[in-house]
Amino acid sequence: MGAQLAVTFTGLRFENPFLLASAPPTESDSNIMRAFDAGWGGVVTKTIGLHPVVNVDGPKTKFLRSMPDSPTLSMKKRPGTALHSSWNWELISDKPLDWWIPKLGRIKAAFPNRILVASIMAGSGSDDELRNWQHLARACQDEGADALELNLSCPHMDRKDMGSNIGKDTEQISIVTHVVKEVARVPIWAKLTPSTTDIVVEARGAFLGGADAITSSNTFPSLPPIDPDTLEFEMNVDGYVSSGGMGGPAILPMSLAKMAQMTQAFPDKSFSGIGGIAEFSHALNYFLLGCGTAQVCTAAMLDHAIGPNVIKQLLAGMQQTMDARGWATLEDFRGMRRDRVVAHSQIRRPDSKAYHGGYETEGYAATAASAEAISNRQA
Ligand SMILES: Cc1cc2nc3c(=O)[nH]c(=O)nc-3n(C[C@H](O)[C@H](O)[C@H](O)COP(=O)(O)O)c2cc1C
Repeated sequence: MGAQLAVTFTGLRFENPFLLASAPPTESDSNIMRAFDAGWGGVVTKTIGLHPVVNVDGPKTKFLRSMPDSPTLSMKKRPGTALHSSWNWELISDKPLDWWIPKLGRIKAAFPNRILVASIMAGSGSDDELRNWQHLARACQDEGADALELNLSCPHMDRKDMGSNIGKDTEQISIVTHVVKEVARVPIWAKLTPSTTDIVVEARGAFLGGADAITSSNTFPSLPPIDPDTLEFEMNVDGYVSSGGMGGPAILPMSLAKMAQMTQAFPDKSFSGIGGIAEFSHALNYFLLGCGTAQVCTAAMLDHAIGPNVIKQLLAGMQQTMDARGWATLEDFRGMRRDRVVAHSQIRRPDSKAYHGGYETEGYAATAASAEAISNRQA
């Protein structure tokens, strides 16, 4: 019998551990149904909110590309380039909750064995705003959503009580998670922002509030490059730009670093890894660090909008890798490399020389001035 790709994550059974992340691939019921037909084990809907949403007057996402024979990085379309990253300033779903509600029910009825996660977002600045979280949570779970992902990480919010501005405030994270937990009958995943100093602090806040899992990473805050010919940002509206989010291959290593910090701090908790996944070898990184599921956005956007070839490769890659290594389930290798990330001083030095992290107690090298002071004292 071949390897078993099915996993249980936050109490939910997934046919396979791969989900489409909350983003354009999951912005409609037709996309989500196509995604399930293609083989994705689950989807996280594009984030649903209650406040009015109007996107910018121009493209919402572009792709930064590099060249093999020059250091040029540009969003301009040209042959022979390789994908470096995606850049977006797209807000959450511009469709209202009423638009989503009947669709969630229809999706779940058509695909009862696939996992439908509803991503939700509201403010946190008042009791009314906190009740909006509960309203969204109840509405989505009543339609059959299997889990709720709290968007505490959208990097484009002006409001100080929304998106990544909540995700930068541990207390707000705990409050929002707790408020949703009060009404939730399904697991809650908290999607954190990578743009903080020590993500372990925010993860702790989410777990204290009752989160069943952490999802990470959302996009990293960034700007599009400036075109040296026109002196304009490569993406702008009337010459103006706003901080946006970077995803895709460039963020894989950065996102792994965030994930490693959290899975080490909370080895018994559940994590869903996102950031730069386009094939199984990428997802494997997250699994080896301890994640139980993996999510994909940029690579799916570039593959017929919902990633039919990406999921095919992820499934085949996982099957082949597990069969070749004799692994029966994801649990046989989940977290296998979590403890290989150590303090710098624990890495072996050449010739058995000792290094203890550069602490002063080890003794500084004498400077010319201190050597003179010592010899004066001795004279
Ligand atoms: C165009 C675009 C829109 C996105 N919208 C959302 C969103 O509504 N909610 C959310 O939680 N994340 C959103 N994301 C972030 C993705 O879900 C994902 O966390 C990020 O792109 C990193 O994954 P990747 O490297 O596979 O792209 C969006 C990303 C992109 C590129």
